Amino acid sequence: MSVRLPFASAEELLGKYGSNLTRGGIYLRSRSLKNPGTPVLLEIKLESGARVLYASAVVSYVTGNKSEGVPGMGFKFITLDAASRRFLESAAAVMPHARSSEPPVPKNVGPIDSSFDAIPPEAPPASQAQAALPSELAGRLLVAGDSSAVKAPVFEPAPEPPKTGPIIGIDLGTSNSCAAIVKDGQPQMLTWKDGQALVPSIVALTPRGQLVVGAAAKSQLTTNPKWAVYGFKRLIGRPADSEEVRELLKRFPYEVVPTDDGECAVKLGDRAYRLEELSALVLREIKQLAEARLGEPVHRAVITVPAWYSERQREAVREAGRLAGFHVERIVNEPTAAALAWGSSRKKPQRVLVYDLGGGTFDASVLEYTEAVYEVKSTGGDTFLGGIDFDSAIVAQLLADFEARTDTIFTDRVAVQRVYDAAERAKMALSNLKEARIHVPFVAVVEGKPIDLDVTLTRAQLEKLTRNIVDRTMEVCQEVLKTRGLRADQIDEIVLVGGQSRAPLVQERIALLFGRQPVTVGNPEEAVALGAALLADALDKKAGLLLIDVLPMSIGIGLPGGKFHPILSRNTPLPATRKYRMVTTRENQKSLELTVFQGEHPRAAKNTWLGTFKVPNLPLAPRGAVAVELTFELSNECLLTISAREESTGEEIVSAFATRDTPAAVKEQVRALEEDTDPEVDVFRPRGVLGWLKRVFS
Ligand SMILES: Nc1ncnc2c1ncn2[C@@H]1O[C@H](COP(=O)(O)OP(=O)(O)OP(=O)(O)O)[C@@H](O)[C@H]1O
Ligand SMILES: [Mg+2]
Repeated sequence: MSVRLPFASAEELLGKYGSNLTRGGIYLRSRSLKNPGTPVLLEIKLESGARVLYASAVVSYVTGNKSEGVPGMGFKFITLDAASRRFLESAAAVMPHARSSEPPVPKNVGPIDSSFDAIPPEAPPASQAQAALPSELAGRLLVAGDSSAVKAPVFEPAPEPPKTGPIIGIDLGTSNSCAAIVKDGQPQMLTWKDGQALVPSIVALTPRGQLVVGAAAKSQLTTNPKWAVYGFKRLIGRPADSEEVRELLKRFPYEVVPTDDGECAVKLGDRAYRLEELSALVLREIKQLAEARLGEPVHRAVITVPAWYSERQREAVREAGRLAGFHVERIVNEPTAAALAWGSSRKKPQRVLVYDLGGGTFDASVLEYTEAVYEVKSTGGDTFLGGIDFDSAIVAQLLADFEARTDTIFTDRVAVQRVYDAAERAKMALSNLKEARIHVPFVAVVEGKPIDLDVTLTRAQLEKLTRNIVDRTMEVCQEVLKTRGLRADQIDEIVLVGGQSRAPLVQERIALLFGRQPVTVGNPEEAVALGAALLADALDKKAGLLLIDVLPMSIGIGLPGGKFHPILSRNTPLPATRKYRMVTTRENQKSLELTVFQGEHPRAAKNTWLGTFKVPNLPLAPRGAVAVELTFELSNECLLTISAREESTGEEIVSAFATRDTPAAVKEQVRALEEDTDPEVDVFRPRGVLGWLKRVFS
């Protein structure tokens, strides 16, 4: 679409027409309206014919369609050539409104309509505009614009399920989820009719306002990434204003909003979905797969989580399972499940290290097993380390090279997402090949011409780009061994789990560190689900299978002054119970309060806030006269409960452990701890001779 505007210079255009322009788009009057979502090549010229702007764009909204207001369209830019980008930057420099990344809505044009069928069929067909585009792009850019205009369905939690029927094992992964069941004593993957076992862990909202999951959602990633949510396993159970979440959001194209209780939710259309709900949608898809495969309702499941998940994240996954209509029989750590899959077919007792490098998380665990007892000795990992980071390293390099070569800056999400997609495919191919072509047609418009990104990536280049990520996993392995005083040669087998562990560099580095080749249990993506199914079967049959897991990160409390005091330390075998005693520090103190954190940092505020425990209704007495014994109890799934007992009466006190609070309230609690430096305060007094010694000598 070429438009000539009656201005002599770019300055005049900005002066007289500037309110119709932003960095993100332009509003143009037009009688031939096109439906929102229609892609166009847009050329804006001055009176002289000189071009000021050339972009690929999509119609974001229309005005004046229903004889109300002025007929026109708001276009959202997709890609711009370097000259256009410079022009828009100069506009943004002088006009604050033009800094927006959305197209403007000028005053006096009437109401806007962003619905996908805003224009009735008799209006000029959108195909005219599409014909101007390379077919590859025309097919891909289906929707854009303001997602809040689309009505999204309400998430309906499933009713409480019966505790009967088969139990399946589910691996709820960052990239893919899958499930397995034991048949005739053998674990097997549950597959769709086409033999596919993996369901991409992606949820998307379609332009028609439907939520889709799995492969259907994946295809929307490269057409409209703002409405396709992936990688939410990294966000679940984390406070919205945490550093980790802020970091992640720079990368994710979708919109994350905080909920009232400080967790994250994702905005899709006019609705925000909690991460538990998004995970539940993936689990529901798995449920349907299982039911179709088994021909009966499936209500019970064992669900796996990264070993390195905090207590809060485990709780969130349990909730997701419930929302999906599962009775969650057990939450189990991914490496533990994988070890079970490995060990179940081997008779000899062994000590293994499970190296699980998936799409989003890395876990390393050392386990020892005999026939029916699997005992985790040490675990470590990083919930921010996975295949996604390999992809990011490739994409960063590709974009830097492309930008240096063409003087075009990539800011468009769709284009970047398409590069991500191609980079991941090349990365996977490079596990078998020495070089792979990365070809993304029409990613940008340079000097008026649409151009492709077309490069060859060699395995050597990939390994150079990702060596530091692989090194980090090796450091974690060494640390996991060290905390148990183990040497690498004391490990019998290294079991590879997770799709990213297929990378040859990973296998080389493991062989180097451990002096032996690693092993796999079938496909590395499936080992976790197979192990979960074995556990599910053992629970179902009440077989004597014993899993002894450990606490991945210490749990403790914040002391006055802001120090972290661990109560249950890392690698404590589960289940575990620890007692802790607190005394009043004020005259007639009516209540006690303690803030619970999880992590390894000596400052409480640097660890994850788990909740605040309040003990009310204490008997009125002088300072130090009332003592409360607290019991911290961790279940075998690593879920925490705290109870309190007043010592003089021995009575259990009804108290509340609040694990949700507004971000402001949590900040306030942490701040109060930091600022409370009163040297008189000695709330945490160990008892007995040991306590006396500590008090005298500290
Ligand atoms: N052949 C391959 N070579 C290299 N990487 C691969 C290969 N196949 C898959 N991957 C990568 O593996 C990752 C997905 O693995 P997997 O399905 O095990 O992860 P997940 O279980 O979803 O994630 P997580 O366990 O971290 O939650 C993706 O990043 C994918 O790019
Ligand atoms: Mg996994």
